Amino acid sequence: MMGIFKAHIEAMSAYQPPLEGRNPDDYTLLDFNERTIPISAPIKQALIDYIETDRLQQYPFYGNICQRLANYCCVDENQVMLSNGSDQGIELIIRAAAQADGEIIIPQPSFAMYEQVAKVEGLKIVSPAYSRERGYPLEEVLAAITAATRVIVIANPNNPCGTLVDNAGIARIAEAAPEAAILIDECYYEYSAASCASLLTKYSNIVITRTFSKTWGLPSLRFGYLLSAPQNIQTLLNVRGPYDINQMAIVAASAALDSPEYTRTYVREVMDEAKPLLERFLDERGVDYWPSAANYLWAFPEQPEAMAEALAADGILVRPKADLNGRVGLRITVGTLAQTEQLIQAISGFLAK
Ligand SMILES: Cc1ncc(COP(=O)(O)O)c(C=O)c1O
Repeated sequence: MMGIFKAHIEAMSAYQPPLEGRNPDDYTLLDFNERTIPISAPIKQALIDYIETDRLQQYPFYGNICQRLANYCCVDENQVMLSNGSDQGIELIIRAAAQADGEIIIPQPSFAMYEQVAKVEGLKIVSPAYSRERGYPLEEVLAAITAATRVIVIANPNNPCGTLVDNAGIARIAEAAPEAAILIDECYYEYSAASCASLLTKYSNIVITRTFSKTWGLPSLRFGYLLSAPQNIQTLLNVRGPYDINQMAIVAASAALDSPEYTRTYVREVMDEAKPLLERFLDERGVDYWPSAANYLWAFPEQPEAMAEALAADGILVRPKADLNGRVGLRITVGTLAQTEQLIQAISGFLAK
């Protein structure tokens, strides 16, 4: 039977992360690259206080949040736009850039959302491969650019592999495809401390997506933002709805920006203590993993599925993710030092069997 929607969308499958059975009361969640400890008390209080003001019956009011984000990112206010998580930022960019017979370059493996939106828009997807040795396939991407290229995706760092492209590489791509949108996903920016925001004035085709979902610990509230040239922000605002970002997200993000130290403290513990500890352990045990600039490692033990099951039995969830050859690795979110010690103990127990 003919459906009521576009045939190619009816033929697609949904992006369904494995949420089932993911009970935070039962497990340490090292499977979604989330912050693994609660957010700071002032943010929770700000949310409670907002509810008490009795303004939930009103539409959201965004106040000066764009200016505050601009200060945080060292850009101008007219280079900032709010989005409902970076997922919406990704969607807006691809929707606004897509054209009939257009192409998008999405190196693989990568975060599923780019492909999802590209399929909805009917774009032809070109997918050069990441490699363990060279990371982002820069030369292959440059070679894949055509007159039909509408979007080029650079997940920086990439998920699941954690690899980075430096700003010189990004500039080469932006120069080689001046009429394409260069989507730079800086979802893990505070972990990687790498950004191409300084390239925005020179390259008006770069659009950066950012989020409060990871280090800031607010994925449940869906708060993200875009950085780009003012004319791109104006155009993307023609696509986004006026209230797509909810008021609780604004309240929480404002309170978070008032006291960013809780984020910095967590990032330091994860990146300077816990992650090096896990890397040393994996090195000692001869377990290979991709070099990562983010709060996760993609590791390739000999029996990944059995290890994931054993870890789950010990109360720790990790995420199996296959590489392009079908070899399954475990993407492991790095949490606090104590959680990492617990993880190492659980892996040691499994390897000793
Ligand atoms: C590379 C990448 N981009 C975007 C997202 C989505 O983030 P948000 O919660 O801001 O939509 C994720 C989440 O895992 C991610 O890994």
